[in-house]
Amino acid sequence: LAAAGPTSSAGPASTAGTPDELGVDSLRTPADVAGPRKEFTLRAATETLTLASGDEVESWNYGALPGPELRVQQGDVVEVHLENVDVEAGVTIHWHGYDVPNGEDGVAGVTQDSVLPGESFDYRFVAEQAGTYWYHTHQNASRGVQRGLFGVLIVEPAGGIPERHDLVVPLHTIGDSVLLGTSDRPSGIGVPTGESVRLRLVNTDMLPTSFHLAGTPFTVVAVDGQDVASPTPVDGRALRLPAGGRVDLAFTMPDERVALTTDATASAWLALTPGQAASGPASGPASERPPDRSAEPELDLLAYGGGPAATLPAGPLVRAEMVLDRNPRFLQGVPVNGYTVNGAVYPQIPSITVDGGDVVELTVANRGWETHPMHVHGHHVLVLSRNGEPATGAPLLLDTFDVRPGEVWVVALVADNLGIWMDHCHNLDHAAEGMMMALHYR
Ligand code: C2O
Ligand code: CU
Repeated sequence: LAAAGPTSSAGPASTAGTPDELGVDSLRTPADVAGPRKEFTLRAATETLTLASGDEVESWNYGALPGPELRVQQGDVVEVHLENVDVEAGVTIHWHGYDVPNGEDGVAGVTQDSVLPGESFDYRFVAEQAGTYWYHTHQNASRGVQRGLFGVLIVEPAGGIPERHDLVVPLHTIGDSVLLGTSDRPSGIGVPTGESVRLRLVNTDMLPTSFHLAGTPFTVVAVDGQDVASPTPVDGRALRLPAGGRVDLAFTMPDERVALTTDATASAWLALTPGQAASGPASGPASERPPDRSAEPELDLLAYGGGPAATLPAGPLVRAEMVLDRNPRFLQGVPVNGYTVNGAVYPQIPSITVDGGDVVELTVANRGWETHPMHVHGHHVLVLSRNGEPATGAPLLLDTFDVRPGEVWVVALVADNLGIWMDHCHNLDHAAEGMMMALHYR
């Protein structure tokens, strides 16, 4: 480790500042950047929707629930034109897990203004990272995302993926309904026996949930969009995804049914049946309810996938700490519960201040009794240890990690993306109540 030793940590108390002061507008993708264009238009609107179950929900969405799947190839220049039709609360698009230039990050009040009804905003970024990501509003996010302002972003690697079938399954709770994919009821898809399948699971909820795959062993080939070194097959293991997290699984279709279930609901599951059947609502054997697997032991991703041990990259070392808790605070004399970082609520939380090239070693300790899925914008973190135990599996590069009650995680990131970035709890209700900190470049 070629680090110069600890230097600064948190600077003096400061708020994030305005985009103009910070020149965030200059941190955008140049219009003439080279590469093939992939253009999309997303129209944010309110809509009353009838789900597969017949339940009605009041949705805000980008044209569908979930929003349109944005699928591009590595190296493409992604151009997304956002229009707000009638979402009074305003909208933006944040590219969750995608390390875009700061001016494209979609954080209302920090990297751009909220887009109001009748207004629009154009995002542009080069799709440098392959993998499974998602996008969502970052204005009034706890309400907006829950109501449906989200979708999935898939970046195919330059050479394509090795699997023949590529299934994307976001999980989302809206009101009392839980959608697995696009349906709050069982759905089915036919896959010929012997063919390879990639299943991309995306937790767009505010709480962690476990997924279960029954009927076949599988490998975890990617976590948060980053490939796992030497994945090994497992069977009968629960995959717990933090709020905002993703995993990609791969398996070969057996000659019997494969069922994907989640602890978030007993009413929706995905059945893959051997054969050529089309996708749609589950019927026949696919509609037979899979057994409850909630007692399945959890796969520990920090010990999965082999490969070399995680080591800190080289660079001047900056140590910073985030102590997460829930404390009373006072708003105009009235006590309310705040979700705190280092004893304060955003924007009173001192920022982490870095120089480009620094290596930031971040210790995140949860002193509360709720799980906090920590999400880091603009960077991926390398997990070094949890509760003093070094991560022994494939080096995990995450953008969202669950810090459970009492846990202490040590993670590292390389400060290589200029700007002001939010690091926050992805239980968006907690973020709205203060659990949000800025990482600020000098
Ligand atoms: Cu997925 Cu700051 O967000
Ligand atoms: Cu939280």
